[in-house]
Amino acid sequence: MTASRILFVCLGNICRSPSAEGVFRHMAAAEGLEVTVDSCGTGAWHLGEPPSPAAITAARARGYDLSALRARQLQAADFTRFDRILVMDRANLRDARALRPPGGTEPELFLAHAPQHGQDVPDPWYTGDYEGALDMIEDAARGLIAALR
Ligand code: 4NP
Repeated sequence: MTASRILFVCLGNICRSPSAEGVFRHMAAAEGLEVTVDSCGTGAWHLGEPPSPAAITAARARGYDLSALRARQLQAADFTRFDRILVMDRANLRDARALRPPGGTEPELFLAHAPQHGQDVPDPWYTGDYEGALDMIEDAARGLIAALR
């Protein structure tokens, strides 16, 4: 295994990245992978809040518990604390790169691990499509696990 500290990043940290955190943690545990998993947002609107009720409900129906997660904001120290930083879309990539200190972990698109879905996980906060986002996140989580082996 090449990395053990994994950070998922989106905009608000209440829909996509907490979903990715919950999905990936669950799958990694099922595979016996020892990983530290966290998530955060590039924005500060929802600091300290749980994931959106719709995100919690959609994830719970697939067996993922997001209820204990709380939103926090991406910070410069994350680029040395985490081995892999997976972002949900190209705007997140741009914003994360702007915060990255020299020598810090390079952020990467999460969907690079499920390229059949394109580059961006559409934001269900705006689209309402929590199921579609979870489909993409599950596929990318499987791809990332395969890449970590
Ligand atoms: P997320 O969705 O980035 O998937 O957590 C968002 C949720 C809320 C906002 C933006 C994105 N917001 O601006 O409030």
